[in-house]
Amino acid sequence: MRFVLPFLLLCTTASAQVDLIPAPANLDLQPGRFDLDQPVTIVVDNAAILPEAEMLRKVLSNALPSEPDVQVVQGPALPKRTVFLAVPSDAELPAEGYKLRINPEGISLNAADRAGLFRGITTLEQLLPGKADARSLPCLNITDHPRFPWRGMHLDVCRHFFDVDFVKKYIDLLARYKMNTFHWHLTDDQGWRIEIKNHPKLTEVGAWRSGSQVGPYSRRQYDSTHYGGFYTQEQIKEVVAYAAARHITVVPEIEMPGHALAALAAYPALGCTGGPYEVQKGWGVFDDVFCAGNDSVFTMLQDVLTEVMELFPGKYIHIGGDECPKERWKTCAKCQARMKAKGLKDEHELQSYFIQRIEKFVNGKGRKIIGWDEILEGGLAPNAAVMSWRGTEGGVAAAKEKHFAVMTPGSHCYFDHYQGDPANEPLAIGGFTTVQKTYSYEPVPTELNAEEAKYILGAQGNVWTEYILTPEHVEYMAAPRMLALAEVLWTPKDLRDEASFVRRLERAFTWAGTAGINFSRSIYNVGYRMNGSKKRGLVYVTMEAAPGLGEIHFTTDGSEPGAGSPLYVSPVEVNASGTLKAALFRDGQRLGPTGSRAFNFDLGTGRAITVQPAPNDRYDDGGPFALVDGISAGDKRVNHEWLGWRDGRITITVDLGEERAFRHAGIGALAERHSWIHPPRRVEVAVSPDGNSFTSVGKVTPPTDKDGQLEFAVNGDLRGRFVRFTVDVLERIPDGHAGAGNPPWTFLDEVHIR
Ligand code: ACM
Ligand code: ZN
Repeated sequence: MRFVLPFLLLCTTASAQVDLIPAPANLDLQPGRFDLDQPVTIVVDNAAILPEAEMLRKVLSNALPSEPDVQVVQGPALPKRTVFLAVPSDAELPAEGYKLRINPEGISLNAADRAGLFRGITTLEQLLPGKADARSLPCLNITDHPRFPWRGMHLDVCRHFFDVDFVKKYIDLLARYKMNTFHWHLTDDQGWRIEIKNHPKLTEVGAWRSGSQVGPYSRRQYDSTHYGGFYTQEQIKEVVAYAAARHITVVPEIEMPGHALAALAAYPALGCTGGPYEVQKGWGVFDDVFCAGNDSVFTMLQDVLTEVMELFPGKYIHIGGDECPKERWKTCAKCQARMKAKGLKDEHELQSYFIQRIEKFVNGKGRKIIGWDEILEGGLAPNAAVMSWRGTEGGVAAAKEKHFAVMTPGSHCYFDHYQGDPANEPLAIGGFTTVQKTYSYEPVPTELNAEEAKYILGAQGNVWTEYILTPEHVEYMAAPRMLALAEVLWTPKDLRDEASFVRRLERAFTWAGTAGINFSRSIYNVGYRMNGSKKRGLVYVTMEAAPGLGEIHFTTDGSEPGAGSPLYVSPVEVNASGTLKAALFRDGQRLGPTGSRAFNFDLGTGRAITVQPAPNDRYDDGGPFALVDGISAGDKRVNHEWLGWRDGRITITVDLGEERAFRHAGIGALAERHSWIHPPRRVEVAVSPDGNSFTSVGKVTPPTDKDGQLEFAVNGDLRGRFVRFTVDVLERIPDGHAGAGNPPWTFLDEVHIR
């Protein structure tokens, strides 16, 4: 009996310190501690794993009174107080799997392979005490292995350049959380970042631009600062070796046939028109792409890929393939001649020809290509893997065709999106992807059966850097969303637990502070959801925070909320214009910034609304009620405020509850043509006393041809109970705009009736 209580206490103390991310597949806490105040020796069973022993030595050095020695010892006679590493272990472990045992006398780490050993070392690293903790390790047994083989993070070094030191720091961050793939986006319209000996102008010319876009895209402002940079082949080798030592594969991306303007600026003969071309200062999608009818384009790209394959030993080479306008190809004699000669029926098939020709070359060197999901259009290359970014459809289509796929849908995996209340965040490209949203991601689409699901290699977080200028900002956007994705990809699905993750994240924040890494704390923002109710003309506001973080206090009079302000317990009823403010608190201490929502009530606010067809599932976060929630969407394009459609005629009907007289009926829309968001062609407003027979009161065309927020409104002596907006959208994006020929996006918010 005497031992029971201390045993329980030990376990409680120990478990408080086993805040591992990603959570291991099996964790069995044991009584006792391994003391870190005494010296230890690292012992390996064979010399092949000395590099991992060296990694471990570095990891343990700071935690121990003296640097541990490393010894190769065969046979059972082990010195006391050792950390024993063995590969391959006697235990049956899958690739990257490991078994870690910590007991008071020593530590052993057995793994299936050297990668598994390294993953186990990162577990041990996370277990090391922080400044405030006891100088010991909890005794435990962990048996662990990953759920998916592709656990990726991407970094765009073209829109903004990041030096080798930072790239290594980024790789260290991936390694700590057991990510195993670094997708390095090396070429784009705004810069070519990899030295190619055969084509020196790619970096002499293509790595530099004469300015950069500053501020939000809508402003179209540019500075005139000479900007650029590139990695020499020696630096590339250094990074690849650095990643390899951490069992991370670097996947280089060489973009083609689009996003090619840096290359075209260097070698204008490779474009359809012959140029001249400029390395781009601004962001977007550009019509000038590699000419698909010119054989010297293929010769050049093959030369480039030959050098790339010598530098990057991994199986996959990423060839881009996304966002390639077909404008130039349509009017280029060479491209048209190629289509005729090859019997290609349209420019999509020409893109497919382009990718397949490159694939054949890459396959001939024993490697495989991976490309963004547009490579499905016009026919998928025979052995290509697909990176599904425009939703999950590309991944589904690939897997059904028995092609491997990596999932990176914008909704959950684009870490350039806002991650908290945009009012409290640095300027981002748009979108809204919280840590919780990323944590909720399931990489295997429900459309796939078990056999097809095997083609889902995993997922990846993407960090595009149009609006990310500094290393600190990259860290801020990458983490902690990357930690959430790391757990999605590593931990068995049935162990995923948001409350537990959020609790473990707090220890990661402490570590990041010590390690000088700028994790975002946007998880401490309050989230808002607006709903209608049976009592019409009201808005119910649900406020939420990740489970277990703290409590929400709010005000409705515009004042700053404090710990003494009303505690949020259930949805708050808002029935008039005003501002709601809220913040998160724990033990009376504020955890995060104040968020606010300003409501402007009119006759339509909080009323019943029907919307046909439903918005596209990429832009439907707020649901139809977002159009009458009293909150007009801002210019930071976030998808819980704006609703987006990709096709058809949209019919929106608001029921004012009773017949009313009013002088204004309007609906807001967004024009951001470079992002393929076009204003409706025309909006017809109609009124009805009964919801059956409607009388048209006006047809409105766009009030301006400029980008920005527009309102389509009818003014006059109007009367009715039902107000209907019939929104006619452009069928195709007109020539002269990004994405010409494709269906545009239509973004709407908010209905105003007053
Ligand atoms: C992409 O985000 N254009 C792949
Ligand atoms: Zn051409």
